[in-house]
Amino acid sequence: MDNFVKITFNKKTYEFPVITGSEGEKAIDISTLRQKTGLITLDPGFDNTGSCISTITFMSGEKGILRYRGIPVEELARHSTFTETAYLLINGVLPTRKELNQFSVLLNDNSLVHEDMQIFYQNFPRASHPMGILSSMVNALRSFYPGLETVEEINKTVTRLLSKMRTLAAMSYKISRGHKVIYPRPDLSYCANFLNMMFDSPVKPYRIDKELAKALNVFWILHADHEQNCSTSAVRVVGSGRVNLYAAISAGIAALWGPLHGGANQAVIEMLSDIAKNGGNINSVIKRAKDKNDSFRLMGFGHRVYKTYDPRAKIMKKTCAKVLKKLKTNDPLLNIAKELEEIALNDNYFIDHNLYPNVDFYSGILLRAMRIPTNMFTVMFAIGRLPGWIAQWKESADDPKWRLSRPRQVYIGPTKTKYIPIDER
Ligand code: ACO
Repeated sequence: MDNFVKITFNKKTYEFPVITGSEGEKAIDISTLRQKTGLITLDPGFDNTGSCISTITFMSGEKGILRYRGIPVEELARHSTFTETAYLLINGVLPTRKELNQFSVLLNDNSLVHEDMQIFYQNFPRASHPMGILSSMVNALRSFYPGLETVEEINKTVTRLLSKMRTLAAMSYKISRGHKVIYPRPDLSYCANFLNMMFDSPVKPYRIDKELAKALNVFWILHADHEQNCSTSAVRVVGSGRVNLYAAISAGIAALWGPLHGGANQAVIEMLSDIAKNGGNINSVIKRAKDKNDSFRLMGFGHRVYKTYDPRAKIMKKTCAKVLKKLKTNDPLLNIAKELEEIALNDNYFIDHNLYPNVDFYSGILLRAMRIPTNMFTVMFAIGRLPGWIAQWKESADDPKWRLSRPRQVYIGPTKTKYIPIDER
């Protein structure tokens, strides 16, 4: 097999090496393209562009595979915890028991946030979206915890972020409801602690349900990384300007907010609720999604990379059904979701376009069952994605050849144009 590609331009032929990844995927290394030929590539949306080489996550859109550091996400969802998976992503290997204990102690030691940060929450307008608040608060952490120079300081920042972002998210919920903030407890695991901070109150103590804590572990494991998606690319690109880690993560949170990306879990529930309100008319929704003149899309369907069933969606669907059964909840939205999925999967438009449910399709129903408010859904995604963002940022930062991200463009605006003074226009 050829290990180079030839490009002929202006009667001259140039060779570019083909590099092969550990799972056999191939890429043309065009890093010298402009220098050799004067050409650039044009690839809006970066469908065909690899922005880096990476050892963190492998996914196959055709086969429906997702692995973190080589381990299938199905195995991690079954056997691991979110904390262990975060360690795996960030450090590259599974921790020993001792290492995991040390990591958990560090997470607990760094779980409190500076009391002064509570003041910020009071001043956001009531209707503020929690993703906007979270992005601002994470950026603000830099002012409260500035040390970011040495390896030790960076490692501490990583643990701080993992622990404090969870506390900040729970605080935002409590403050938005005008309730007393519940502090993290050192005796609780990462997920149980979050549920407790969200739902415990001085008048009604929260009883931690092991199965709900397990479901939350699964939810966060499934979201922990997804290679070079929109928000992760934002973290890498923003980080490449050598901005501090908090600012790079804050940019990732902002990117995740959009309904085509992480905001889809909220959009799915809104769509299912609208269907329920309109008497369960699924066919009209399917019709709108297929209409070229309507910008409406079936939320929770389709993916830039997966052209088959998203492996995370399969696990999410099962976890969701298990939790609803355990809680003895009969959520009408689950029935609508199942019916909608069934209709879409048998419809030629969705078959021809390779549109399958993605991770967001069932995750909202799971979060609803856990009593997480709809506008907090994307915040839940962000907490889950944090280890991936950190691992990807770290991989870039550890690369001695880390270059500033600076794509080019093909300019199609006016050519040189004379300035006309205002009174002569
Ligand atoms: N409903 C209806 N049609 C769709 C959908 C959908 N959900 N998704 C894609 N299509 C159609 C498009 O209209 C287009 O049709 P055409 O070729 O006939 O014009 C074709 O499929 C390709 O669509 P693109 O937008 O080019 O595909 P892209 O790879 O850019 O889209 C995306 C991926 C943004 C996720 C898209 O499928 C979508 O908007 N889905 C709904 C939002 C969603 O669920 N987002 C979450 C993604 S997962 C995540 O980020 C965590």
